[in-house]
Amino acid sequence: MATSQTTTESAVENQTTSIPTSAGESDEQSRDEWTDYRFTSRTAIETENLDVFYGDEQALSDISLDIPAESVTALIGPSGCGKSTFLRCLNRMNDRIKSARVEGSVALGGQEIYGDDTDLVELRKRVGMVFQQPNPFPKSIRENVSYGPRKHGNIEAGLLARLFGNDAGDEDALVERALRQAALWEEVDNRLEDNALGLSGGQQQRLCIARCLAVDPEIILMDEPASALDPIATAKIEDLIADLAEEYTVVIVTHNMQQAARISDQTAVFLTGGELVEYDDTNEIFENPESQRVEDYITGKFG
Ligand SMILES: Nc1ncnc2c1ncn2[C@@H]1O[C@H](COP(=O)(O)OP(=O)(O)OP(=O)(O)O)[C@@H](O)[C@H]1O
Ligand SMILES: [Mg+2]
Repeated sequence: MATSQTTTESAVENQTTSIPTSAGESDEQSRDEWTDYRFTSRTAIETENLDVFYGDEQALSDISLDIPAESVTALIGPSGCGKSTFLRCLNRMNDRIKSARVEGSVALGGQEIYGDDTDLVELRKRVGMVFQQPNPFPKSIRENVSYGPRKHGNIEAGLLARLFGNDAGDEDALVERALRQAALWEEVDNRLEDNALGLSGGQQQRLCIARCLAVDPEIILMDEPASALDPIATAKIEDLIADLAEEYTVVIVTHNMQQAARISDQTAVFLTGGELVEYDDTNEIFENPESQRVEDYITGKFG
């Protein structure tokens, strides 16, 4: 479990101008200390001085952020502040956007991913992604789940055999395991050959999570995964995220403050200009933020 050691002393010393937050701090200049969040568990992802530009427009500015393994990290902030851009940096999905330029460093388990020698297929297997709109393939439920292992098997000799053995029964086992992990198995076990597009939105989203889990990732990135879902489907996704964090590192973007407060262990607050303003234990962010701007944002005064 992560523990916060965010330094507040010099924030207090620097306290000068604006109205103090409930934490008694006011000077935005001590921002570096508010984002220098330290945790005791293993670091899964380390970003350092990350800048992202789309053409001449800067979308992220100097983001240095370490993400602990086997926990849920929420990214919050107003529309356009760079949350999705940041998420896409973590598996180099921004490489697919022509105008995007990424500077700085992202390391997974200490290994830099922004090098020419990075195998992008392998990277995206290690770092899976779930999007806002469920996007199953127009294929059977089974094929949606087995697609990834098959694809990796074709590309990387030996992986298919490792994942499936040479036996179709192993494929069945893998499909079942991923669907169970995604808390969908009991709703679909008698209709695996049906087209995935016939599932409800909430089921489709859990299928997309199962598809992501089927290739055995280390990290799961989720960009507003429940924003298109009703409250019951949302609750299922939230429960699922809590379970997944026992084994995986989950990084989730959400506009829903209650959701961030409920499901995350730590929260990073981005604000307009692509700036990381504060990063801390989720309880600290919501109950005792250091920055006035963060307090204004989470209490709904702007954004
Ligand atoms: N493909 C792109 N081409 C050009 N500019 C982009 C592109 N994607 C994002 N941007 C710009 O980068 C900035 C950050 O966008 P991003 O989508 O990361 O924000 P966000 O925090 O995810 O917003 P939202 O909450 O609305 O999803 C915005 O100004 C946006 O217009
Ligand atoms: Mg976004």
